[in-house]
Amino acid sequence: MSEPTQDQLFSHQYWMQRAIELARLGQYSTKPNPNVGCVIVKEGKLIGQGYHPKAGQPHAEVFALRQAGENAKGATAYVTLEPCAHYGRTPPCAEALVKAQVRKVIIACSDPNPLVAGKGVQILQAAGIEVETGICTETARTLNFGFLKAMSTGLPYVRLKVASSLDGRTAMASGESKWITGSIARQDVQHWRAISGAVITGIQTVLADDCELNVRVLEGVELANIVQPKRIILDRQAQLPLTAKILHNPETVMVMTPFRQELADLGVIQLAPQPLNQLLQTLSQQYQIYDVLVESGATLSTAFLQQGLVDEMISYIAPTLLGQSARAMFNAEFSQMAEQRRFELVDVTQLGQDIRLRLLPIQEMI
Ligand SMILES: NC(=O)c1ccc[n+]([C@@H]2O[C@H](COP(=O)([O-])OP(=O)(O)OC[C@H]3O[C@@H](n4cnc5c(N)ncnc54)[C@H](OP(=O)(O)O)[C@@H]3O)[C@@H](O)[C@H]2O)c1
Repeated sequence: MSEPTQDQLFSHQYWMQRAIELARLGQYSTKPNPNVGCVIVKEGKLIGQGYHPKAGQPHAEVFALRQAGENAKGATAYVTLEPCAHYGRTPPCAEALVKAQVRKVIIACSDPNPLVAGKGVQILQAAGIEVETGICTETARTLNFGFLKAMSTGLPYVRLKVASSLDGRTAMASGESKWITGSIARQDVQHWRAISGAVITGIQTVLADDCELNVRVLEGVELANIVQPKRIILDRQAQLPLTAKILHNPETVMVMTPFRQELADLGVIQLAPQPLNQLLQTLSQQYQIYDVLVESGATLSTAFLQQGLVDEMISYIAPTLLGQSARAMFNAEFSQMAEQRRFELVDVTQLGQDIRLRLLPIQEMI
């Protein structure tokens, strides 16, 4: 990072941005907890910083306060998420800030978690600490789309990943689909898996690809520091073979299937067949899975889209043509323009020879 200017040292945005960058260091390891960063500043000087590295370990504020020591008295704390107010595995951070006698706390995002919601701010204000909110809120929200959505709606944030050819095809008629995109795009998918609490796929993808859907390589990150996503297979007719590779790697597998003793014997978590919206609720509320990545074929992708359950589509497009007998990315039978599903394009990135589009479904047609 380049040396900050004098103006930046006295700008709330500058310090909150630092706190956001710190929070991001926990992006692969804090789940199901949120990513949070904190910096403590006095007279334009950084005196403490920290981020939440992992569930069960201290929160960002605790690390930052430890570093600042007695010097925290009279300082300003920048926190990306409202300090917690409840006794969980660690004592409340709002109280730690009060005890340290900071003068001011600046918060990017309020916490919709019913155990916190506004209570963190109340504790600070009741102790006479000045609180300011709304600094870099939008950027800070991107750290925790899943956590924020789950806390306020009970549902996880769902990303749908699709890799397609220029002619919108995702597999050959035979089911063969390796590979449409190049290695850089495939490496990018590992990032989205690594920030997810679960990767969901349909049984036909497992039968066709014998895929494992875990995180195998992430540049610059040690695999041991990644909390792997759970892999979830939707298999309502109990077709999953016991020889499937996905069942024989150490990460957790969940299968939505009529109960099978032989899966229980392998330690697989089984979920009763249920509609997709109910499944998402179960994952969020019973398993603390707040970010879901759907990596399936067109059948399941279409079901998620048609039921309005996708928050974001991550579409990789490769400069290749697979022809009209190859499988389309979306199976719906539309006959009129009025039925089309539109998206808002929020980002375009070139990854080697491929491009990645990030798209938000527009739920209501105008
Ligand atoms: N290019 C890509 O990004 C990409 C990604 C993944 C896969 N693929 C390719 O896609 C092909 C497989 O695609 P596919 O469309 O045949 O299968 P799929 O979407 O992977 O799986 C479909 C199956 O999911 C099960 N399912 C469970 N709950 C469902 C629900 N609520 N709605 C719909 N389905 C549900 C159904 O089987 P039950 O009724 O038996 O439960 C259904 O047959 C493979 O060739 C694979 O290589 C491509």
